[in-house]
Amino acid sequence: MDKLRIRGGNPLKGQISISGAKNAALPLQAACLLTDEKLTLTNLPLLADITTMNRLLAQHGVEVHINGRDAFGSSGRSVELDAGDIFNLTAPYDLVRKMRASVLVLGPLLARFGQAKVSLPGGCAIGTRPVDLHIKGLQAMGAQIDIEGGYILAKAPEGGLVGAEFVFPQVSVGATENLMMAATLAKGETILMNAAREPEIGDLARCLIAMGAEIEGIGSDRLVIKGKDRLHGATYAVLPDRIEAGTFAMAAAITGGELELVGARMADLKSVVKTLAGAHVKVTETANGLLVASNGDLVGVDVMTEPFPGFPTDLQAQMMALMCVAKGASMITETIFENRFMHVPELTRMGANITVHGSSALVRGVPKLTGAPVMATDLRASVSLVLAGLAAQGETTVNRIYHLDRGYERVEAKLAACGADMERVKEED
Ligand code: UD1
Repeated sequence: MDKLRIRGGNPLKGQISISGAKNAALPLQAACLLTDEKLTLTNLPLLADITTMNRLLAQHGVEVHINGRDAFGSSGRSVELDAGDIFNLTAPYDLVRKMRASVLVLGPLLARFGQAKVSLPGGCAIGTRPVDLHIKGLQAMGAQIDIEGGYILAKAPEGGLVGAEFVFPQVSVGATENLMMAATLAKGETILMNAAREPEIGDLARCLIAMGAEIEGIGSDRLVIKGKDRLHGATYAVLPDRIEAGTFAMAAAITGGELELVGARMADLKSVVKTLAGAHVKVTETANGLLVASNGDLVGVDVMTEPFPGFPTDLQAQMMALMCVAKGASMITETIFENRFMHVPELTRMGANITVHGSSALVRGVPKLTGAPVMATDLRASVSLVLAGLAAQGETTVNRIYHLDRGYERVEAKLAACGADMERVKEED
């Protein structure tokens, strides 16, 4: 299993190109199931999760082509997805277990084919993460849903799903995406209230509109979707990854460096930029993206994760790494996932001073972290250890980096090009 070896202490300087957003790309890939025409996606990140989604789609019968070639089991910057000949309506446990976003095929399959069988994803490292809201929303649209043998068995009424009003009792990104996709092919109007407002939802809505859907309320928590008999093909470019951009902003900050994040958008990162300003990290807009600068004199700030436009849970671990070396204390509260402090014991092994009380972590800044062998069990926790390693004295080895590879494209190459002393070490299992 690959490791990353990092020798800390170099301030990062230079430019990093931000890749397309994984969390936008995955629902966009699933959206191809809504039409029998070709959906072409561009600006895809080169990541394992994107390949997993291509594989899931291929086993449903989608023809996946990259540069005109059959692309089963691989991925590329742009991909053509042709769901004209779907022969299998089951998303198997094997693939769903690997990647929870697989559940995003449920809404599109059910809406277009009247039935679907999708494995329940089960728990994951950061919490129980149920899919009850996806199910309740589809039931509100007339679907009959049974759970059998670990699978969701969904059946639309005779004549297809029907538009409905649905109020999310809790904000959910995935459930909003699933229901929005299903509603594009339902009979009549669907109104989704307390819908998630993440930029990735807007990206999906814009792609669906390009495919012929009628959606209003993009960027708000009330989405109105008028169902159509059919959608058509389109070409769509995935938006830049705000979480990757936020992560590299924190990498610049923790090393007292200066990075230009090419393609990063201020509008998607407002709460993060505000929080960083409180910690004395300067973020300004440039012609190409965002410029992040820090002299390394960081100050502790309190952070609470919230649905967009609040501070994203996907940047909580990275922010905690930053706060480990800030002056003063910082209270970090996680409100989205119940078990998302797995980086704490590892950061502590590097000399951090952190106490966890329920869903809050009190971080007391220390002057220096020291390198250590560490490992993490989820994607964002892993990258927080990379950030800590970049700032630490001595050598840090981050083990089991396959989590990291699921969400960050060539992270070591991008950081090393800006002066980080780090490399990937290949190892046999
Ligand atoms: C998406 C992101 C993930 C991010 C998360 C929150 C993708 C592929 N993943 O995950 O990176 O951390 O949003 O911003 O886009 N919940 C329920 N019932 C449900 C669905 C969700 O109780 O049916 C709960 C979850 O357990 C969690 C909260 O709602 O506590 C938010 O989860 P949700 O927004 O659905 O996250 P995902 O879409 O899975």
